[in-house]
Amino acid sequence: MAHPHHSFDPLLSAAGAERMVRICEQFGSFKMYSEEPTFAGLIGEGLPARWDAARNFVKTGGRFGRNEPLQVLAARTNYFRETYAYGNEERVEGIKPFLHHEGFIAAARKLFGRPIIEPAIVYANLLVPGQELAVHTDVPEFRGVNRKKHPQWLIVAMHHSGLFEQWRMPIATGVSWFHDCGGGEFAFYPDGAKGKPVAHPVHYNTALLMDTDTVFHGVDRVAETAAPVDKLRPGMRLKHVDADRWVMADGDEVIAEYRWNELRYSISWKAYCFADEAEQRAWQHSTDDLSVTAVVDRLVEDLRARGIITGERPSDTVLVDVLIDSYIRYPEPAAA
Ligand SMILES: [Fe+2]
Repeated sequence: MAHPHHSFDPLLSAAGAERMVRICEQFGSFKMYSEEPTFAGLIGEGLPARWDAARNFVKTGGRFGRNEPLQVLAARTNYFRETYAYGNEERVEGIKPFLHHEGFIAAARKLFGRPIIEPAIVYANLLVPGQELAVHTDVPEFRGVNRKKHPQWLIVAMHHSGLFEQWRMPIATGVSWFHDCGGGEFAFYPDGAKGKPVAHPVHYNTALLMDTDTVFHGVDRVAETAAPVDKLRPGMRLKHVDADRWVMADGDEVIAEYRWNELRYSISWKAYCFADEAEQRAWQHSTDDLSVTAVVDRLVEDLRARGIITGERPSDTVLVDVLIDSYIRYPEPAAA
């Protein structure tokens, strides 16, 4: 396989896994990922954070090339996300053992052959029946360029261009699941975008760890119920009501109701993987940072050298799609 992955089954003790479910209920209210900010004054201002993945999903109809109205496709991929831990900041009680999971740390060391592992983030994704996650690679990080300051689609294109590897901070990602649900397989391409996908069924208290910044992956559709997925709109929240009941809420209005076992609940763990302390320090103290202007100039220069851009530099609006289409080579949709 071109890209290795590590499998965990079980990931946590029975009590540990149970705790991850309770944490989700205590968190209680999840917002849509599509509400992530875009950045004023930068190329692509006003576009969705993951314009790259959204554009490909709408163009192809997803992994199975389905043909649906734009608004339905958008509703299917507007899943819910909240952050449990960020760096050393624990945003929910009881997340520490997961943040410092020894199995994840040992597997992360092996993944890139880099000994210093620094857990960076733990976040939860919830998908409701009929939702899916468009095939994508995750947002990587470079010294000086990261998702807190810069457009996510641009950072993804940077990685796929291969032009900035000396500034890249390799990140290991563990994706874990804390319940069983119908559908919602984790689909990934361990042999690259041109290789065969693996549709990995997700089960309670299991996990996979890999380089999701490089390996294309997505989530197949969660089994549909009578709940209307096409009624989902940005700004709605997914809320836990009591023991086994969740609702989709538009302000005070309830749009749909779900039981726990109809939802798809995953938790992602990401960690920086440093080769040595010098590299860790360069990252911490920003001593070798890229600037985003220089990055875009370098990409344009590369596209000129390849004959993709000739004459005047295109406007930023045009350039965004040229960058995405030139560098991010998505897997072709499979037959349904
Ligand atoms: Fe992902």
